[in-house]
Amino acid sequence: MAAPSKATGFHLKLREGTQQLHDQAEAGDLQDKMVNGTLSKEEFTSFIAQMKLVHAALEPALTSASTGDNRIEKIFDEDHIRIGKIEQDLVDLEWEGDITPLPATERFVNYVHEKIDTNPIALVGVLYVEEGATNGNKYIAKKLIPALGLGEGKALGFLDPHGDEQRAKWNAFKETLNELDLTEEEEATCVESAQETFRMIMNISNELSAANV
Ligand code: HEM
Repeated sequence: MAAPSKATGFHLKLREGTQQLHDQAEAGDLQDKMVNGTLSKEEFTSFIAQMKLVHAALEPALTSASTGDNRIEKIFDEDHIRIGKIEQDLVDLEWEGDITPLPATERFVNYVHEKIDTNPIALVGVLYVEEGATNGNKYIAKKLIPALGLGEGKALGFLDPHGDEQRAKWNAFKETLNELDLTEEEEATCVESAQETFRMIMNISNELSAANV
């Protein structure tokens, strides 16, 4: 991949704290198949369906947390609400019916609910991973969507929610991260929740891979 961009401040802590987990995530089975364009439409649809359940919990949690904490309000905005885009992906992928959460998805949803009750600032770490992942997902989209034979612009809502603005939005997000007035302890909490988010997403990916062997 391209050389990583420079990082400072709180963003640097998040990046350094999750670098190793990122290396593992890039090498995950599901991610490998995505990049190689060998993931089937059914497997991709199952992944997007699980992401819908995650976002259906995370976005209302962040919306509610931003009313109680102006730091969360500062970093979380409507660009991060992508449930509608994910639902459109499922339409593009011709998904119909209910979605059964995987055990790992349930754990992620429970984690979000627990944080909103006990320590909402931790959700900034979750948001960092969701937003940061748009960097790699944009690249994945270029490989996977044509390989799946989907029409141009189809099923990109989760992978590439910002389109041409992805780089600018990621740069702005990183700047805002560094302007948040968090204590050392709160920053450490967010690094921990970012680490946990990587693990939870990879657990979902691994459960999906295991279901398809
Ligand atoms: C094949 C899979 C993946 C590829 C190729 C990939 C690639 C990339 C690239 C190129 C960047 C940008 C680095 C920069 O501009 O400095 C990035 C950043 C990031 N990715 Fe991934 N990624 C993958 C999977 C994932 C997954 C599964 C997650 C989350 C679970 C994730 C989370 C992140 C985060 C949080 C960042 C931001 C790092 C920072 O703070 O600079 N990535 N990824």
